[in-house]
Amino acid sequence: MDSDRTSPGVGQADPIDTLPPGFRWGVATSSYQIEGAVAEDGRTPSIWDTFCRVPGAVAGGDTGDVACDHYHRMPDDVGLVADLGLDTYRFSVAWPRVQPGGRGPANPAGLAFYDRLVDELLGRGIDPWVTLYHWDLPQELEDAGGWPARDTAYRFADYAELVVDALGDRVDTWTTLNEPWCSAMLGYVEGVHAPGRRNLGDGIAAAHHLLLGHGLAVPRLRAGAGRPIEVGITVNLATADPATDTSLDRDAARAADGLGNRLYLDPLIHGRYPEDVVADLAAQGVRIPVEDGDLPVIAAPIDVLGVNFYFGQLFSGVDEQGRDRDADGAPVRRVVRRDLPRTAMDWEIVPESFTDLLVRLGRDYPGVPLVITENGAAFDDRPDADGFVADDDRVAYLAEHLRAVARARLAGADVRGYFAWSLLDNFEWAYGYEKRFGIVRVDYDTQRRTPKRSALWYRDTVRRVRGQR
Ligand code: FCB
Repeated sequence: MDSDRTSPGVGQADPIDTLPPGFRWGVATSSYQIEGAVAEDGRTPSIWDTFCRVPGAVAGGDTGDVACDHYHRMPDDVGLVADLGLDTYRFSVAWPRVQPGGRGPANPAGLAFYDRLVDELLGRGIDPWVTLYHWDLPQELEDAGGWPARDTAYRFADYAELVVDALGDRVDTWTTLNEPWCSAMLGYVEGVHAPGRRNLGDGIAAAHHLLLGHGLAVPRLRAGAGRPIEVGITVNLATADPATDTSLDRDAARAADGLGNRLYLDPLIHGRYPEDVVADLAAQGVRIPVEDGDLPVIAAPIDVLGVNFYFGQLFSGVDEQGRDRDADGAPVRRVVRRDLPRTAMDWEIVPESFTDLLVRLGRDYPGVPLVITENGAAFDDRPDADGFVADDDRVAYLAEHLRAVARARLAGADVRGYFAWSLLDNFEWAYGYEKRFGIVRVDYDTQRRTPKRSALWYRDTVRRVRGQR
């Protein structure tokens, strides 16, 4: 283990120890990535079931058909969370399980799974944190136009109400969407995630309708619960810094930050789309399909902003040949690789950027409590003969990023919790089972779970920080 990266420095107090009483400690998963049982109890296909069958779409031709078989092993998996001494478990509900086809009444057999999960968690003293949409759109809604179609936003709000009707008496915290940027951009522009479309206009329409669906769902959740609950949304954010101080590099970083971060944060928190992004899109012939009254709906007050952070990036406005326009005449926006340690995803490890990001959120979007709803890393795990993984690289990643969170708090950011991604190795979308993010190893041949060193480190860290109170 590289002690420089896992400890704060000889003789120095560890900032992690400043995380206060009441700070939430958790772990996160999502439905399609772990559940399997894709055709059981009335579940119908989602866009991911379809996408996995497109030749070449997912590494190794992997699918979520079985995944971690969590649908059948749920009580034991909850036991793993309990053994780690965590207070919160963030999971997502599969829309095609509880409302097959995306319309009409709830499917009681599908809802029953989440009902049992919530009771299992509460019985072990763990708070359930529900995410309503972690990318498994019912295929029938995609066939009807998907997120680029405005109607999908209304369908989402109806679905949200079905779930809160069933679980709202016991679940205190609700996240509408996970990472709308990924749904919109990876799914509809880059085509590397389901449903695999490649069209900027579709992606921008999807982004707007995702945000609209969120805004429509917020009051439905509050009304449906009939008691005070916390409602929020989770966004993936990355820092976008200029590679140099030239105006071209600064403009590339501005544009990347605009399309990646502010396009979501500004309407959600300030009720308006950022003018510079609107202008960038207009230059590409794309308009955000906003209708009268949409922005106040999207800006419905939230109780918590979920932040998922994995990496930060440097941007340049010139390509390697020094040109500032691409073949289509559009401004160059190039990611500049730094000589930094990387994860198995090839993501740069930049915990300082995490601190900067959180401090900036507190400054630009004040008054919104933050919870880190995902942070973690894939590495090339090497299990020993017993299946144990001494993942010192993951321990270092988690320690550095928790330290970054603590430093951001000390600098004024209102961060109230941290959830490691992920409890289990799981189906990592287009990477299939090749990339492992779990703090617990899953042997996919036997479905055996083995906590890695990072899980034990996390358990001990949480215990230590709590113990000093
Ligand atoms: C996030 C996703 C999550 C997982 C991690 C690695 O973007 O929300 O499902 O894939 O990345």
